[in-house]
Amino acid sequence: MNTKKPIGIFDSGYGGLTVFKSIFKLLPEYDYLYLGDTARAPYGNRSFQTIHQYTLECVRWLFKQGCPLVVLACNTASAKALRTIQQIDLKTESPNKRVLGVIRPTAEVIGNYTKSKEIGVLGTKGTVNSGSYLIEINRFFPDVKVYQQACPLWVPLIENGEFDKPGADYFVERYIDEILSQSPKIDALLLACTHYPLLYSKIRAYLPSHIQIISQGDIVANSLQDYLARHVEMDKDLSKGRTHEFFTTTDDTMDFDFYAELFFSGKVKSSFAEII
Ligand code: DGL
Repeated sequence: MNTKKPIGIFDSGYGGLTVFKSIFKLLPEYDYLYLGDTARAPYGNRSFQTIHQYTLECVRWLFKQGCPLVVLACNTASAKALRTIQQIDLKTESPNKRVLGVIRPTAEVIGNYTKSKEIGVLGTKGTVNSGSYLIEINRFFPDVKVYQQACPLWVPLIENGEFDKPGADYFVERYIDEILSQSPKIDALLLACTHYPLLYSKIRAYLPSHIQIISQGDIVANSLQDYLARHVEMDKDLSKGRTHEFFTTTDDTMDFDFYAELFFSGKVKSSFAEII
């Protein structure tokens, strides 16, 4: 019998691996199960109903594999599906399981990165239109002004391996210009999509040097560590065998492994997860 109780990490595709990389580095003692819904990615331009349905199906699958705790390492899913999953679905189907997102932990600390009290948030259309960052940041840092920019073409570029190719420059420059044109006082730029760290060097090249780029990996990892220290029962329930497994909803796992290794900066050998 499988007695493993891993921490589940979920993203629509590869992006969550940038978060998993930080979590795995900070908390190597746990077992992990990563699921990328690559067959249905990107989620960014999809409707609320669809993102909720897809995310819930993936969360249920992770629960079925034995995960008592799932981290949605995806801003779009955190913005569009997390609240309904936490407040409705979990209550009726799995009251002892927990699902955490990436928006709240980021909002809790983001104000510490700005001196000018003006920050830019780059995300998918779904994340930006949800207004989740405006609401959450205002709750923790009411004096910080938030400007948002949707970058709908970045995830497709990244998922198709174009993130370090010259063709990506046009779209990086375009969205950077758009966010900076909203205010000259922005001094911190949040990459509010777990895919975007792959574009880091191109984003850096188009940004004035005084503007800091903030990626979420370490923020989410620290927040998870803190959560486990505060929720001892959950921590005890999780198995600690130092294993990690990768699953994709695409039947071509070799393709997943190739790109996943770029995001995770380590060896990936995935299996097919039949969710639908
Ligand atoms: N990586 C996801 C995020 O953080 C989004 C990617 C997608 O559009 O599917 O929002």
